[in-house]
Amino acid sequence: MSPYAHITGWGMAVPERVLTNHELATMVDTSDEWIRTRTGICERRIASEDQTTASLATEAALRALAVAGLNPADVELIIVSTSSPEHTFPATACIVQDRIGATKAGAFDLLAACTGFIYALNMAAQSIRSGSVKNALVIGAETLSRLVNWQDRNTCILFGDGAGAFVLQAGEERSGVLSSVLRSDGSGSDLLTLPAGGSALPASLETVRDGLHYIHMNGREVFRFATRVMTQATLEAVARANLSMDDIQLIIPHQANQRIIEMAARSLNFPMERCVMNLHRYGNTSTASIPIATCEAAQQGRLHPGDKVVFVGFGSGLTWGAVVAEWSAPFSAQRREYPTRYRLYARVRSALLRLLRRLDTLIDALVWDRRQRD
Ligand code: UT7
Repeated sequence: MSPYAHITGWGMAVPERVLTNHELATMVDTSDEWIRTRTGICERRIASEDQTTASLATEAALRALAVAGLNPADVELIIVSTSSPEHTFPATACIVQDRIGATKAGAFDLLAACTGFIYALNMAAQSIRSGSVKNALVIGAETLSRLVNWQDRNTCILFGDGAGAFVLQAGEERSGVLSSVLRSDGSGSDLLTLPAGGSALPASLETVRDGLHYIHMNGREVFRFATRVMTQATLEAVARANLSMDDIQLIIPHQANQRIIEMAARSLNFPMERCVMNLHRYGNTSTASIPIATCEAAQQGRLHPGDKVVFVGFGSGLTWGAVVAEWSAPFSAQRREYPTRYRLYARVRSALLRLLRRLDTLIDALVWDRRQRD
């Protein structure tokens, strides 16, 4: 029988810097009242100069590994879901792999915008279900504050920075990820986009001048789309898991807008008290919002082994999707590990590898030079 992908570790990392609505109102033409009533957001976190998507992802990953009691060297797959990667390439996941010392892991980035964590969770779970890996790290991480136009009140009030991570491990018992629904509709690709910097519109003086390296959004249309698909995806994923909404203890939705979540809960006839909400404190952290909300729910004792949970999200693409999971727990038989110690080993290892690579190049050049002279 194929193994199940249990969720055995979870961790989050958010920047210390808090940007309140009141502070935003001194930067653009908006007000705390407008932002709170239209979105539910009161404040968000903003990365400091030395924090990046990879550094937040690394912190979240190490915390998730600590909860799982897993050594980074046992991780076989790292998926980083992000729309604000460290670079176009290499993948942010490879930088995280190096920083945590996951010496046996394949690593890649996945871009499905705010739905990315749902997609990544599904991909990692399928890798475990197929038997190709036993342990995986799924990370959602963003520093969208770097991509927002701080003069555009339509977008800059919404987004925040942060990262969240899950450890998935193979287990015989039917638990962990039970079903998934992944959907897309590229006909709405113009509704939420960062137009320039890719192959369609390479960076140029004009693209910078025209503000095309910032997030552009048709908020009203995204809103309409979101309220429709959150309900659909939830019902479909629950049915695929052979469950009914009565079996679901918690919904952990993408934290974009309180009104979207309330409308979805109403149409699902699901009590708001069982929808996890923390967007008032973090804003929309895109693909990081679901794992961050999950970590806080776990810390608050709202998640118990055996609980059935729906993770549901939507975003640019357009993309949307849902995962139904049975909340697992760290494997008790596993020995305790302290992955933060591995950060130091990883740094030393990485520095040595870079040095060796340089020496190797130098020796090659010397040998070549000698051969040429002979
Ligand atoms: O992860 C996915 C990310 N995207 C989303 O989730 C976006 C989903 N959409 C939304 O959350 C909402 O559409 C927004 C919060 C973005 C906007 O709320 P809305 O109720 O749809 O407002 P609106 O765009 O229809 O604008 C209403 C009015 C406009 O003024 P006029 O044209 O009626 O005079 C806007 O110019 O509010 C104005 N407005 C603002 N006023 C004060 C727009 N942004 C602001 C602002 N402060 N920040």
